[in-house]
Amino acid sequence: MTTGRHAACVIGWPVEHSRSPLIHNYWLKRYGIAAEYRREAVRKEEFQAFIGTLAARGYVGANVTVPHKEAAFALSQPDERARAVGAVNTLWLEGNVLRSTNTDVEGFLDNLDVCAPHWDRDAAKALVLGAGGAARAVIYGLLSRGVERIVVANRTASRAEALQRAFGKQVKVADWASLEGELADTALLVNTTTLGMHGQPALTLDLDSLGRHATVADIVYVPVVTPLLAAAKARGLATADGLGMLLHQAVRGFSLWFGKTPEVTGELRALVEADLETAT
Ligand code: ATR
Repeated sequence: MTTGRHAACVIGWPVEHSRSPLIHNYWLKRYGIAAEYRREAVRKEEFQAFIGTLAARGYVGANVTVPHKEAAFALSQPDERARAVGAVNTLWLEGNVLRSTNTDVEGFLDNLDVCAPHWDRDAAKALVLGAGGAARAVIYGLLSRGVERIVVANRTASRAEALQRAFGKQVKVADWASLEGELADTALLVNTTTLGMHGQPALTLDLDSLGRHATVADIVYVPVVTPLLAAAKARGLATADGLGMLLHQAVRGFSLWFGKTPEVTGELRALVEADLETAT
């Protein structure tokens, strides 16, 4: 390390599964930056004390993951998008002030822009499946890009209704049991549920009535090609996967901590993909 304060970390419990060290250390090496990115296994009850001593530990900032995203929000100065999502995943020190944001919003949008460059040309309606933190980030991002109508469907309807109250009248709620009826005029379909994830049931949705210009995005990245994305590809639709979102969401943290906006390269993607394959 060049200075005593030139490191960042991911804080979680458990934290072993996090791919953030692989991503950030790849970039540090690629750009020849003499700094480190580490894993910090921190229990829930120790989180507040830990982030109170970030600077003393040599950290300029951190990622936070399960179970600390809401606590990190309460203990820092969140920006507008973190407030809209209600959770943060990226912290950085500005002098003595601990600031925070939620980079899932731009991770989702930037990946979509790369994978399906014209997704928003006629994006009058998006259908978002799920109503957790990831759905909030996706909805906030889609509204910021001018999508007129966002239909949210969730197994537990009350959580979708809460999103409607939070984001206003451009957000509508659809019945989880009759999703297919929503597809015909959907320009963008986004899965934010855990369905399709390794070890979870697949999302069974017949895509027949989706238009041929529709785009399908999934935030699940294990496996990289989920059954939903495979079905969309088989129909010749544009797709955006969760691995791309994971890589793009890391860009802002790196740039805040280390002063360089890094590139999401094919080489980085292959590196993380290979690591995901060995883990499953
Ligand atoms: P996150 O904050 O990471 O988005 P979450 O709050 O745990 O995670 O949300 C997971 C999403 O997957 C929820 O929308 C959940 O639906 P419920 O709100 O009804 O729990 C959805 N989900 C998980 N398992 C599911 C299943 N078997 N069928 C349908 N939806 C499921």
